[in-house]
Amino acid sequence: MTGADPTRQRPTASYEADPSQVDRVLLLYSGGLDTSVMLKWIQDSYDAEVVTLTVNLGQPGEDYAVIEDKAKRLGAVECHVVDAREQFAAEFLTPAIKANAVYGNGYPLFTALGRPLIAQLAVEYARKSHCDTIAHGCTGKGNDQVRIEATVATLAPELKTIAPVRSWAMGRDEEIAYARDHGIPVKGGTEVAPYSIDDNLWGRSSEGRWIEDLERAPEDDVFQLVTRPEDAPDEAQVVKIGFEAGLPVSIDGERLGLVDLLERAGELGMRHGVGIVDHIEDRIVGLKVRDIYEVPAAALILTAHEELERLVGTIHQNQFKPQMDQKWGYLVYAGLWWEPLREDLDAYMSAVNARVTGEIGLRLYKGSVRVVTRSSPNAVYDASLASFAESGEELFSQTASPGFIELWSLQSRLAHRLRERDEG
Ligand code: ARG
Repeated sequence: MTGADPTRQRPTASYEADPSQVDRVLLLYSGGLDTSVMLKWIQDSYDAEVVTLTVNLGQPGEDYAVIEDKAKRLGAVECHVVDAREQFAAEFLTPAIKANAVYGNGYPLFTALGRPLIAQLAVEYARKSHCDTIAHGCTGKGNDQVRIEATVATLAPELKTIAPVRSWAMGRDEEIAYARDHGIPVKGGTEVAPYSIDDNLWGRSSEGRWIEDLERAPEDDVFQLVTRPEDAPDEAQVVKIGFEAGLPVSIDGERLGLVDLLERAGELGMRHGVGIVDHIEDRIVGLKVRDIYEVPAAALILTAHEELERLVGTIHQNQFKPQMDQKWGYLVYAGLWWEPLREDLDAYMSAVNARVTGEIGLRLYKGSVRVVTRSSPNAVYDASLASFAESGEELFSQTASPGFIELWSLQSRLAHRLRERDEG
């Protein structure tokens, strides 16, 4: 059983490959079952050469030498492994932090931010390795296919795309049978399907199995990063995150590069059970889907960043920016990383963030993260003005308040009077 004959599939979109055009394929290869089956299946079904690309975005516990070796054994003519952690942090997570980027109820977009970079690198390596087609392992039900194919179609109109998992009509059992027949090692027991995992240094998602049953509470084996809050230390820990121009630069006074800092923040969050998000998502392809997210680094950094940003912003900036943040997050979630509006918004985010310098203290305790201290040379805050004890008369005259209140409430008072008249 090798699934549907790819030659029977007629392209719907202009960028989908016609099988006769497919000679050399760049496969985005994770080393898992789907992409390993794809590696063989593409060689067989298209009579094409396969070049693999594996991208390191900081997914914990991955052995890239093992993946490369597996790709070679399955017949890849070239295998590339790229450590893109610095680029991911500098070009994708940096603007995301400045935009406080989340979608829905607390999803910090780690997958949505990773996909355009993975696809951008696929384009780069496809061109270098003279491939005509890019293949990925996304299904037809998710956002990831949108993010990857939109990127390829935008950056490289000359390249075609194939998505075998979307077209080959193999169920999991058939994939396992195909793997067995073709000498592809299948990890672990085959009775229980694994969770569908995606992760990088900004977080990790799990989908599938019991997660699809909305009435079921999370089972512990899904949490591979974050300590169960009930098992977290009984002692709270206060952690100070320092920022310069909107970016985290230190933890407890120790300066760190962004990749190291995010890894350190992740470790602290994990230890204290911080960053578990049980999320129902409105996907751009219409479905509602539940994900379990573990986002310990984002839980610390975004909480601290948002707090510091509000401290240095005026009331008007603070009311306006969340609307822009939301738009930014939605564009990225929806696979439109290359949309010019995103860059326009980045310019605004950077302008605001130029003043976001200072330090935020977070208290981590059994699954919660709470801001406990704040300091910034740019805080729009004057302790003597805000104080109960001091008068601060030069900038703030309390005797001016009644005049303000009279004018501030004028329209509301007039409208109220009209209603009373009409209601009799
Ligand atoms: N639901 C999230 C999103 O659409 C995460 C997807 C994770 N991808 C995966 N292949 N498991 O961005």
